[in-house]
Amino acid sequence: MGSGAGPGEDLLVTGGSGFLGSHLVVDWLRRHPQARVACLVRAPDDVTAVLRLRTALLRAAADSGQEVGPALLSRAAVLRGELGEEGWIDAAAGWAAEGGGRAVRVLHCAASLSFRPEDREAVRRINIDGTRSLLAAAARLQAAEFNYVTTAYGAGDRAGDVGEDEVCRPDGFSNGYEESKWDAEAVVREACPRALTGRGMGYRILRPSIIIGHSTTHRLSSSSGFYNVVQTIFQLGRVQRHQGQLILLPLPPDATLDLIPVDVVVAEMIHLLDAGDATLDHAFHLTSDGPLSMIEVLARLSPMAGFSIDRQDEAAAEVSRLARMLLQRLRHYTPYLGQIRRFDRSNVRAAGVARQPPLDVERLRDFVRGFIDRPNQGMVAR
Ligand SMILES: NC(=O)c1ccc[n+]([C@@H]2O[C@H](COP(=O)([O-])OP(=O)(O)OC[C@H]3O[C@@H](n4cnc5c(N)ncnc54)[C@H](OP(=O)(O)O)[C@@H]3O)[C@@H](O)[C@H]2O)c1
Repeated sequence: MGSGAGPGEDLLVTGGSGFLGSHLVVDWLRRHPQARVACLVRAPDDVTAVLRLRTALLRAAADSGQEVGPALLSRAAVLRGELGEEGWIDAAAGWAAEGGGRAVRVLHCAASLSFRPEDREAVRRINIDGTRSLLAAAARLQAAEFNYVTTAYGAGDRAGDVGEDEVCRPDGFSNGYEESKWDAEAVVREACPRALTGRGMGYRILRPSIIIGHSTTHRLSSSSGFYNVVQTIFQLGRVQRHQGQLILLPLPPDATLDLIPVDVVVAEMIHLLDAGDATLDHAFHLTSDGPLSMIEVLARLSPMAGFSIDRQDEAAAEVSRLARMLLQRLRHYTPYLGQIRRFDRSNVRAAGVARQPPLDVERLRDFVRGFIDRPNQGMVAR
């Protein structure tokens, strides 16, 4: 990776009303006291758009146990609109011009995260066509960089070591979301040929694994991914006759679970953006430095829900009725229970990103408790 001065600190962000995007915006503004951010926000009118963004930013700040004042919030502008539309681009150009001619950087975090087969077309429209239209808008705004937040699971069915800059399309994917993210990465690389030509907009491809709550407060303003699995397990445990049962799941013994707290993933993203040109035109696995054993997580945490989970041989002829019920309820997530691969982090290391605080199963218990015990959750961890 080369070196050089980066552009200014002003960011045009999509997905700022969402979980990761709101944390990113708050942290970016906190760490860059002169920076401005403009967020693309979906809403029926301007007042609602402002309210939606403000609520999301305040929630993200609360997740991290800090307060944000009006001075910080005033540096977050709202562009009302959505991916695929062009109506907001003039307002974005006006916002960029107010920055005194500094080049803008785009951080594209918005996406549909639906795994449901029936949403496949909508997911592709938002994640691929939406990315393509944002790239065109970024070119019109003469953005210096396009930072694309995607997912490590765009690696689809790839097993073993997965490199960051590999561009070979996987043979298969667990769902349309993974596939759309891989295809959108290809769209980004193609639209940003700076690596080949030395000119134009540079890119970064930022690939988190599974994002969990804040590493010190354990709070989070989302309930997707890992927490959907936790919620399903706790719901099963609320049924009296399931209490004290042992559920054997057919899982590979060496399956891993790759989790990253939201503040850690945001810190890594900011480090990479702050590194300037040195980190352009590469992909980065924003994954765990030490993935957990899936079976250890399930075995040690399931008693919090009132029953026990352990593994049985994948080739076992009999799977219990309760195990089948759990797997059916987790059907969108079962591909993630048997993952055996390692996301290589050579580019992350080369960029000088600090080693993550270790996350073990005992610490994960605090994240689960933070989610289950949160107000309105209606479930109590043991
Ligand atoms: N959460 C994870 O564990 C995880 C893991 C790996 C990668 N990621 C990636 O991280 C990014 C953010 O995920 P998240 O967990 O923060 O999801 P999220 O909370 O669902 O946020 C998604 C954001 O995208 C916006 N959005 C969706 N469709 C849009 C459209 N057509 N036009 C404009 N905005 C649109 C949403 O706006 P509304 O508020 O209007 O709905 C929301 O702000 C995604 O790219 C995802 O693939 C997430």
